Amino acid sequence: MGHIALHYDAPEDGPKAAKLLKLLGLVETQELPLPGGSFYRFVIDPRHQARGDGIIYLSSTPPAQRDLTAAIRQMLKVGAPEEHPAVAGMRAALEADPEVSFHVGILLDSLEELERAVLDIRDRAETDPDLKGRIKIKLNRARPGDADVDARLDASLLYGSVSRYAYGRNGVQAFIETNLLSSGPLGESLVIELDYVFPGKTSHILSVVEL
Ligand SMILES: [Fe+2]
Repeated sequence: MGHIALHYDAPEDGPKAAKLLKLLGLVETQELPLPGGSFYRFVIDPRHQARGDGIIYLSSTPPAQRDLTAAIRQMLKVGAPEEHPAVAGMRAALEADPEVSFHVGILLDSLEELERAVLDIRDRAETDPDLKGRIKIKLNRARPGDADVDARLDASLLYGSVSRYAYGRNGVQAFIETNLLSSGPLGESLVIELDYVFPGKTSHILSVVEL
């Protein structure tokens, strides 16, 4: 895949969103200062530095999109007592399953790296002024059935106590929802999913969906 373009709303959220993307393991290759906030280019790993794929762009939400989102929010009376019931319905669906709407998935090749990154972000969501109150994390562990995978996850500082399960085996997911980034019909947040698949398994969370 070539690239994905992400947006932040407030100019001051640009550097914070860029910081979060770096904490998720992305590599920043360019920051171009612009009047409404910087334009950034990231790659998923250094091998993509000079290539045309594996890219995530980050820039300020264009005014036309911001105007449209504001109009939608106004028409639906978001946050007011007479808020359109569809808003609460969508919020409840996202709360139950962060994959129900648009989201971005990043595959890591090390479970230890995923655990380190998510534990760090979870800690920073309490202590780092740039991220405090801006992050929600949900975790899915692999469906039980493989003794080695189950033992590894039981012993995991991150996954040991998790009781949510992925739609598949032999892999884990970490969902980092942040309102530093804007997406969806209300422009409120974006879910970034980190994935890890245990090696040597033909059936896993990203190969076969199980309900
Ligand atoms: Fe997903």
